[in-house]
Amino acid sequence: MSAVIIRPEEPGDEAAIARVVEAAFGNPGEALLIEALRADGDVVLSLVAERDGEIRGHILFSRLFVVKDENRIPAVALAPLAVDPDHQDEGIGTALIDEAHLRLQQKGEDLSVVLGDPDYYGKFGYTHERARDFASNYQGEALQALAWNDTPLEGQLVYPRAFSALS
Ligand SMILES: CC(C)(COP(=O)(O)OP(=O)(O)OC[C@H]1O[C@@H](n2cnc3c(N)ncnc32)[C@H](O)[C@@H]1OP(=O)(O)O)[C@@H](O)C(=O)NCCC(=O)NCCS
Repeated sequence: MSAVIIRPEEPGDEAAIARVVEAAFGNPGEALLIEALRADGDVVLSLVAERDGEIRGHILFSRLFVVKDENRIPAVALAPLAVDPDHQDEGIGTALIDEAHLRLQQKGEDLSVVLGDPDYYGKFGYTHERARDFASNYQGEALQALAWNDTPLEGQLVYPRAFSALS
């Protein structure tokens, strides 16, 4: 098996990304979310995983705010993460998250929030404890956060507009 190459999304990748995301989730919701986030200019980081010249995985982070008192503190929301069902358990998801986290820290991001399986995201440092005191419609065990610097423990999570259309 050849190495996985992780690189930023480029113009022309959209259709291949949508195919992977729709296959991974089994419905078009997340692919539509990506389109809406792009259209709204809310994408902070979008990476693809290529193996043998084909896009096999994708990860996206969008702009989320933690609103506390008069402050709007920027953070990022990890969603979605998808790996082609024929290529899962090959380390592609891990490679995407690890590279994305490095790039986010280099960009000066301080906090990432995810809604997902704690057994999976816990391996990358996300904890519900770090997100427990945020006010959010998504509050619950699946809401997890990872902080690279001092950021608020409390506040209202304000997701990009596109998330409101996701059922
Ligand atoms: C979740 C997903 C991105 C993982 O990608 P991947 O490339 O298969 O993951 P990796 O190869 O890096 O890691 C595989 C490991 O994660 C585990 N894993 C995969 N999905 C998991 C889940 N939902 N919960 C817990 N562990 C999970 C595997 O069992 C495996 O464990 P091991 O390393 O102990 O053997 C991929 O399975 C996927 O696209 N799923 C459908 C879409 C989805 O649910 N996305 C996440 C939304 S929050």
